[in-house]
Formats: sequence, C-alpha cells, structure tokens
Amino acid sequence: MKLWSGRFSADTDAAVDRMNASIGFDNRMFREDIQGSIAHARMLGKCGIIDQAESESIIAALGGILLDMEAGKIEFNIADEDIHMCVEAELTRRIGEAGKRLHTARSRNDQVALDFKLYLRGEIASVIGLELSLISALVDIAEENTLTIMPAYTHLQRAQPTTFAHYMLAYANMLLRDVTRLEDCLARMDTMPLGSGALTGTTYPIDRAMVANELGFSAITGNSLDGVSDRDYAIELLSCLSILMMHLSRFAEEIILWCSWEFGFIELSDAFSTGSSIMPQKKNPDVAELTRGKTGRVYGALMSLLTVMKALPLAYNKDMQEDKEQVFDSVDTVKMCLGVFTGMLRTMAVKPENMRKAASAGFINATDCADYLVGKGIAFRDAYTVTGNLVNYCVSHGKTLETLDISEYKDHSPSFGDDVYAAIDLEACVKRRCVPGGPAPEQVDAQIADARAFVDRRVP
Ligand code: ARG
Repeated sequence: MKLWSGRFSADTDAAVDRMNASIGFDNRMFREDIQGSIAHARMLGKCGIIDQAESESIIAALGGILLDMEAGKIEFNIADEDIHMCVEAELTRRIGEAGKRLHTARSRNDQVALDFKLYLRGEIASVIGLELSLISALVDIAEENTLTIMPAYTHLQRAQPTTFAHYMLAYANMLLRDVTRLEDCLARMDTMPLGSGALTGTTYPIDRAMVANELGFSAITGNSLDGVSDRDYAIELLSCLSILMMHLSRFAEEIILWCSWEFGFIELSDAFSTGSSIMPQKKNPDVAELTRGKTGRVYGALMSLLTVMKALPLAYNKDMQEDKEQVFDSVDTVKMCLGVFTGMLRTMAVKPENMRKAASAGFINATDCADYLVGKGIAFRDAYTVTGNLVNYCVSHGKTLETLDISEYKDHSPSFGDDVYAAIDLEACVKRRCVPGGPAPEQVDAQIADARAFVDRRVP
C-alpha cells in the first residue's frame, strides 16, 4: 500500500508506477536521505515536536538502515517509489509508531531538495579533487619541459615558438578556473531547504538553523516557495561541468592531433590507447576521442535541465524529478573523463625532437626577425614588410630564415648583420618572451609555482 494511498480508492496502473518511480536512480542518495532525516528527527525531538525518546529511536534505527543499505542488504523496489519513501517505510517496519512521526513538518519536496544538494556537494568535492590531480599532472609535465621548444598555432598554422611547458600550463589555467567555478557553485548552493515544507513552510515550531548547522550548511533558504522549486544549483553545476568538458575536449582534440603520424609530438602509452580489429599498425587515441565525444552528453544534460525548468510554475512539479538522471550521468561522465585523462597524460611519451622539427620549418621566428630590425631602428610596420618579403624569398628558393646567407639578408635590408642568426634562434626567441604569462623559462617557473600553490591551498 502506498504511503499516500488514503485519498485513492483504486490502484495506480502498473505502467504509471514504472513511470512515476525514481527509486531506480535516486537510491544513490540513500546516505544523504538518511543524514537529512537524522538531522530532522533530532531537531523535532529538541523542539518538542515529537518525544525525545521517539527522536532517539528514529535516529538509532536510521543508523541501522544506513549500515544495511551500505552493505547492500536492502533491495530497492519500485513499490517504494523513491528513496525518501523507501527509507521511511523501512523505518516504520523496524520501529512502528515512532517511524510514522519522522515526516512531521516535512515534505518530500523540501526533502528531495535537501538530499540533492547534500549529494551534489559531495560530488562537486570529488570533481574538484580529480581536477586538482589533473592540474598536478600538467604541472609535473610542464616542469620537465620548460626547454622543450614547440610551435604554437593560430588558425592551426604555425605562428610563434613556445615550449611544451607553456602549452601544458595553458590547459592548467583553464582547469584552475574550472575549480574556482565549482567552488562558486558550491558557495551559492550552500543554503538548507528543509523547513520549506511542501511549499509554504510549516506550522510547527521547527528550528531550521539547527538542521542547517548539523548538516554543515552556512545558511537556510530564504523563501519556502523558492526553496522547493529551485534547481539553479543543478543547472549551474551542469554549466560548470559543460565548460570543464569543453576544456577537456579541446585538449583531447590536440592530443589526437599530436599523436598522429603527421604531428608525432607525443606517443600515448599502450595502457591508454586501443588497437584496430583490422589495421595491425593502428594505435588509437580512444580515450581522447571518447572524452571529446562524451562532452556532448554533458552539454545535452545542461540543455535538458534548462528546458525542463523553463516554464514550470511555482512551486514543485513532478517534471523536476527529471533533474537527477541528467546530473548523475554528467557527474559520472566528468569523473571518469578526468581520471582517465590524468592517467593518459602521466603515461604519454613527449617527443621533443619532433616538436623542435615542426618549430624549425614554418618561419615561426619571422616575428622575431621583424623585432630584430626594430632593434636596429626600423619602424615595426616597415620591418614587418621586409620580413614578409624575406619569407616570400625563402619559400620560392627552398630556404628558411636560418639557412639564408647574410648577403641575402642584406639584399632585403642593409640593417641586417651577423647577429640576426642569434636573434632568430628558437631558444632565444622563447627566452626573450619574458613577459609575465609568457613562455620564457623563468616566467613558466612562476606559472608552475602559482599552479602548485593553488593546488596546495586545496589539498592539505
Ligand atoms: N521523487 C521525487 C523527485 O525526485 C521526490 C519529490 C516528490 N514529491 C511529490 N510531491 N511527488 O522529485
């Protein structure tokens, strides 16, 4: 018999039960549901809304249910509809009368809002932890590669020289922002909704602050209608996760390019690549491709929940039960991608010779050549034109800036001297880019120190 069957004279259709039940997916919030119920029961006892003894027996029995659920001893059944009713029904089976008092001054509407926030709070913390591990991996790789010259691109055309360390730190910086975004999301969702009741609060003299305090929230929600109908935190989390996946997907795209024969900048370890069933030579970057592909699921979840919420009148509507699968799937996906990505990066082999070769062949130091002329007193725009003509000359004569004779330089501008070769040397080009944020090794060292400090502040 359903908890809410009093008003009904006939059973619901079996197909309706299947559609209505969320126990199949919300059972993963059993810990949070029990944690919330324990705090609620303690408060009911303390405020004299139920007997102190009943409160204690509820709390003790909930502790037992928690252990049994952890041990997988309780089967989740669609007859229980959702995790909230499942726990309450089990409690009443165990302690009878007192169990029936737990739901005093509470509704599943504020209960589910609480459980979801508690659950996501924990998941956000693990996403942040995984992201910090990935940042640490990037910083370690950067530390090894502060002198590994590689081309940097705009329009995927070789543009200017940088180092692999500088490149890794670009991704580290994106991920640092992801972490702070998740922290902002956590801070904004740090309000405790219990006490909102079904929608207009409750007539009982409850103590919301006590519950908030026990559950580690720094405030209570400010309006009961909003308290039960707000899913901003889930949408905000999905947008944080979407941005995070966008970063991983961009990175994945570069990994895929870099391990192609055409680039050959890295080689993935056997443990983090896969083969082909027909082409024996293949070693495929499936981890990177799947990460890029799974980005679609997370974006989809964000669109899905925005769409679910867009025209809902206040307050709770059953549509909102559609929030959980999307968010759960996204959190699972992001955690999986972050973990595997870190392993893939930590085990990949960097190929400095190939990076260097790619950096040597594309006139990547043309800007430096122009800057050299500026140093000789020529206006940048004129220096730019002279260097453009030089590149044109190189292309038609099968030469590079490094292999041009000094006479050929001088034919283009009398300001060129023998020191031009040192000026366009790739190491020198990188070392001179000593602006904060730039690729010069001492600037990269500063970026490494900043990223490490960011991680250390969060990982005790
Ligand atoms: N399983 C429901 C959900 O996930 C819990 C809230 C149900 N409330 C209600 N009035 N039917 O949203």
